[in-house]
Amino acid sequence: MKDILKELEDRRDVARLGGGQRRIDAQHAKGKLTARERIELLLDEDSFEEFDMFKAHRCTEFGMQEQKPAGDGVITGWGTINGRMVYVYSQDFTVFGGSLSETHAEKICKIMDMAIQNGAPVIGLNDSGGARIQEGVASLAGYAEVFQRNIMASGVVPQISVIMGPCAGGAVYSPAMTDFIFMVKDSSYMFVTGPDVVKTVTNEVVTAEELGGASTHTKKSSVADGAFENDVEALAEVRRLVDFLPLSNKEKPPVRPFFDQPGRVEDSLDTLIPENPNSPYDMKELILKVADEGDFYEIQEDYAGNIITGFIRLEGQTVGVVANQPMVLAGCLDIDSSRKAARFVRFCDCFEIPILTLVDVPGFLPGTSQEYGGVIKHGAKLLFAYGEATVPKVTVITRKAYGGAYDVMASKHLRGDFNYAWPTAEIAVMGAKGATEIIHRADLGDAEKIAQHTQDYEDRFANPFVAAERGFIDEVIMPHSTRRRVSRAFASLRNKSLKNPWKKHDNIPL
Ligand code: HXC
Repeated sequence: MKDILKELEDRRDVARLGGGQRRIDAQHAKGKLTARERIELLLDEDSFEEFDMFKAHRCTEFGMQEQKPAGDGVITGWGTINGRMVYVYSQDFTVFGGSLSETHAEKICKIMDMAIQNGAPVIGLNDSGGARIQEGVASLAGYAEVFQRNIMASGVVPQISVIMGPCAGGAVYSPAMTDFIFMVKDSSYMFVTGPDVVKTVTNEVVTAEELGGASTHTKKSSVADGAFENDVEALAEVRRLVDFLPLSNKEKPPVRPFFDQPGRVEDSLDTLIPENPNSPYDMKELILKVADEGDFYEIQEDYAGNIITGFIRLEGQTVGVVANQPMVLAGCLDIDSSRKAARFVRFCDCFEIPILTLVDVPGFLPGTSQEYGGVIKHGAKLLFAYGEATVPKVTVITRKAYGGAYDVMASKHLRGDFNYAWPTAEIAVMGAKGATEIIHRADLGDAEKIAQHTQDYEDRFANPFVAAERGFIDEVIMPHSTRRRVSRAFASLRNKSLKNPWKKHDNIPL
């Protein structure tokens, strides 16, 4: 009996070594943790329960039957993050470069199936050379099985991908279908075709880092939602994110203990808006002053800075924030910001996370590059996302809300539940100057007259009261009481129930 117990321990020890000490050392030398070390940091201490530790590949080509490492290059199982359950897989680069075989894929699929069935997020730690070359189409089939599960899990359980090494070829499409992708700076990359193929086909010379590193995907392509300095920071930040999210679409987001007054008054907000309506100010200041304990988890911080997206808590409850940022492009909506915010709004709606929208938007960005790039369809994504969302929606217009962008930004007409405005709000079809130049075109040669018309337009429309008279604004509120008003609004909406008409699924303009 003792011998059998010993054999189990011995087998476990061998499995835990993955591809062996030499390859573990090589992994460490690159500044990367091993797959097991990553799981340890991600999950609560001693909470990890492993599946399929001894599963091995079935390949007999290229002498593969001689090397059958236990676990086949991926560690799978479940554990907890601050006591809440998550499923996890972590690819082991020390075993065949973390490459995906048929059996490696089966292990990932097993925990994904369980996550969907049992209602808990899936976190994938990716560090892989892609399809197991020795297995050919069996490996491609394995990928497609994972893809299919990503699709089935979408909107059912949160899916988070962390890219902690290579992720290339078709392999990128599994992370691409998850809700959030995080990358580790300088040690991870994602691309469909690598630098060598790029050189052959397009003659461009580019490094792996330039083509698909963390900076490229968080600043240029928007494929990734965040980049972190190293494995340790990335895993700590994933833990922080999970704390904001519900475990599945059947649950409400977690309510955490909070140590902040819901009615906290912030007098400094009364002077946040500059005297000059064209001067910028930092919308993040408002977000931080509204949030419980000033805690804000920003998503896509380095992309489309003209809109801010992320999570805060109000009275301990998760709230998604979408806010125009006057510091970047005057807070205009454009292609990139519309796409960024639309995806975020849809994520919140999938998982019953209420949405707070802070508005200071002079309109859509004009120009040929925007029109040729399809700003009509991309802007419609955000409009569509807000309009279909049934979660509690509270909107505060701090300053400008002009034109179509007024409608788009969670207006009353898109089923906003509470639509507040600060006294500094300007809600109109367009800015006074532009409006005057159109409706008083005949007076364009007369500067004095134009100045007067502009002033008249401003006096009439550059305020929140015309909209308030119509009931499009529920209340004009004092900036200093924004946290209290918004917290009370969301508290009153906790039992909100709103359903869209039955449909197979919608046809959002993609
Ligand atoms: C089998 C692989 C492998 C793979 C790496 N290894 N990739 N084994 N299949 N795809 C093995 C290596 O043989 C080596 O084994 C170990 O992993 C580490 O690899 P190195 O090359 O020594 O490491 P490094 O220099 O860090 O380079 C990592 C790498 C490189 C950039 C990932 O290995 C590489 O380019 N691999 C091939 C990538 C690729 O073309 N994959 C297929 C993509 S197509 P030993 O025994 O020496 O430790 C694809 C299609 C998916 O993925 C489609 C889905 C629809």
